[in-house]
Amino acid sequence: FCPHGRPVPCKSINQNILKTNPKVVDTIDVEDIADKAVFCRCWKSKNWPYCDGAHGAHNKETGDNVGPVVIKRKEK
Ligand code: FES
Repeated sequence: FCPHGRPVPCKSINQNILKTNPKVVDTIDVEDIADKAVFCRCWKSKNWPYCDGAHGAHNKETGDNVGPVVIKRKEK
């Protein structure tokens, strides 16, 4: 069984984030991003929607190669 108690293979990518919501949607105002923001794409961050480095352990454990998306302002 998968971590959710469902028969394997589990098709759920999101295992812990806002599971009572029908859909996880995050809205960040561009004006609130200073020079750079780093967003999680592995669904393992404990600081969702931001990356906390958890992708490193996930990649090591699974052989995956996921990483964050970095939003930054162009240097002028
Ligand atoms: Fe998920 Fe970094 S913690 S991409």
